[in-house]
Amino acid sequence: MDTPAFSTMTTPTLSPGAPVGIFDSGVGGFSVLRHIQAQLPHEALLYFADSGFAPYGDKPEHVVIERVLGIAAFLVARGVKALVVACNTATVAAVRILREHYPDMPIIGVEPGLKPGAASTRQGTVGVLATERTLAGEKFLLLRDQIAAATGARFLLQPCVGLADQIEFGEPGSPALDAMLERYIAPLLAQGADTLVLGCTHYPLVQASIERVIRRHTDAGVTLIDTGDAVARQLARLLEAAGLLRPAGDAGAQLEGFTSASGTALCAAFASLLGQNPPVHEVAIGATPSNPAGTHI
Ligand code: DGL
Repeated sequence: MDTPAFSTMTTPTLSPGAPVGIFDSGVGGFSVLRHIQAQLPHEALLYFADSGFAPYGDKPEHVVIERVLGIAAFLVARGVKALVVACNTATVAAVRILREHYPDMPIIGVEPGLKPGAASTRQGTVGVLATERTLAGEKFLLLRDQIAAATGARFLLQPCVGLADQIEFGEPGSPALDAMLERYIAPLLAQGADTLVLGCTHYPLVQASIERVIRRHTDAGVTLIDTGDAVARQLARLLEAAGLLRPAGDAGAQLEGFTSASGTALCAAFASLLGQNPPVHEVAIGATPSNPAGTHI
């Protein structure tokens, strides 16, 4: 498949006081952001929600790659010292190209937790909930084959069409969300899965609803795997190794939000999902940033 032409960017000198850029197709990356805030409370964070182009999961790979490169260019122009691709779909499609583009910058991606899933299963069957694009990714399938061969675990792949969108735009705890979770989770439990990998960063945001659906089907414990915590630890490790951790004495850590859709909606999501009220800007992202200053909300 064709990938957009690119050239290697020289990253401006990275400094410990600079912010970390985090992005997702929408608010799913909050499930990673909350771990980063907990583990790295001194860091300044820029969060980009590409909600105007969500979902990524049903888009062709080259479209996801273009969005990722556009958002990364925007965040780099705002001076970030590291990038967290808080989206499984974007990571599977574009993290390699992103690293080629910004070879000097720490870049952390998110992938479905197949290894912890295999380590946690008691009966040997692991359900993997993710977008269609993630589950079709070559890199993902290779990893699945390697881990299955090494551990003997059986992975049941469940593309969750429409679920990220339902979480992004629907009512929390709504009957529509419940019905969708039931449709995707029940067959995995019926096939003996005792561990479910949440392979899309949107899914941990509805963990309570997922647990409710599971309880309807089984009393046996089902382990949910969310890699947000591990991603935050990896970010901390890479920043420390590069001498880029923000000193604790620096002025208070700030969070700033950017969105390609409604700023009001992102403000509401920050408040309802994280209990925070950071400044939010609406921005238009093309292949290169077209509105780097943004509109303040
Ligand atoms: N949050 C996303 C992921 O981790 C993307 C969902 C989507 O946009 O389809 O895959």
